[in-house]
Amino acid sequence: MHLSNGFITARAHTNIALIKYWGKKNDDLIIPNNNSLSLTLDEFYTDTSVKFSNELSKDSIFLDDVDISNSTKIVNFLDIIREKASISEYAYVKSYNNVPTSAGLASSASGFAALAAAASKAAGLQLTSKELSKLARRGSGSATRSIFGGFAEWIKGNTDNDSYGVEIENPVTMDINMIAVVLNDQPKKISSRVGMKRSVETSPYYNAWVKQCEVDLIKAKTAIKENDFNTLGKISESNAMRMHALTMSAEPAFMYFNNDSIQVINSVKTLRENGVECYFTMDAGPNVKIICKSKDIKKIKAALTKTFNDEQIVVSKPGCGVQFIN
Ligand code: DP6
Repeated sequence: MHLSNGFITARAHTNIALIKYWGKKNDDLIIPNNNSLSLTLDEFYTDTSVKFSNELSKDSIFLDDVDISNSTKIVNFLDIIREKASISEYAYVKSYNNVPTSAGLASSASGFAALAAAASKAAGLQLTSKELSKLARRGSGSATRSIFGGFAEWIKGNTDNDSYGVEIENPVTMDINMIAVVLNDQPKKISSRVGMKRSVETSPYYNAWVKQCEVDLIKAKTAIKENDFNTLGKISESNAMRMHALTMSAEPAFMYFNNDSIQVINSVKTLRENGVECYFTMDAGPNVKIICKSKDIKKIKAALTKTFNDEQIVVSKPGCGVQFIN
């Protein structure tokens, strides 16, 4: 598809949660059970161009040049925007991911954040960041935070109107990097949507998770304020493991780790025993993300390349919030 005039293009970066969102109290509106906190990354992003046109008889949606016009998730999301803008035209959507899609590298976060920005503007709406964040949330929960750069928090709220993201610190003053170890770029078997629902409904530990997240969140925010890298790293690592404990305690149980994930986790622990300050986190896929300081990137990469290829290791700095690029 050639991009002619009239397209609005937005770029949004992925974010990785340090305090995870795992479970909704309202599935339709995507209202979470707990606040979450993330770091937006500069290396992974989605560029999305949108144009509404009365020449179309249905939405025409392409992701990385593949026709995905049948995606009900995206069509429903465009319906929300049409309703808000009181328009009825269908949209051309052309999106490019600089992220391995559905591999646990949060492509839905950058995807829906970029789509919310581009499509709302193309529909004639002028939304504030807070409004964009609420809109992005309707596509995918984690997208709520990708409207913002640096450290962002998703305030859980109770309704469509009070569940949105806020910037905690941007630009980030802490020396923090995230090394993504890409272990599998195949789409995951159990999506986060399905996985978190099963955890909410069947894990006997679910209520304890929600309670613990409140404690973890306060500690993480204090660590950010005090520029305390190690406390933030520790709390992020335990919060991730607590989330994965919910998948393993669900019925039927499932897990996102594979053998390589365990190997990376063990390398992080060995590095730490040898004085390298680094911590891991994992989402709904086998990839492991390592939080570290700039001075240790080389050492960590050297340890990982004993087992993994260079291309599997991507180093990110904190990234910026959503922006229009035309
Ligand atoms: C593990 O945002 O993908 O990455 O709201 O159902 O679209 P839906 O889920 P999604 O879940 C992300 C889960 C997570 C943790 C996080 O990003 O907070």
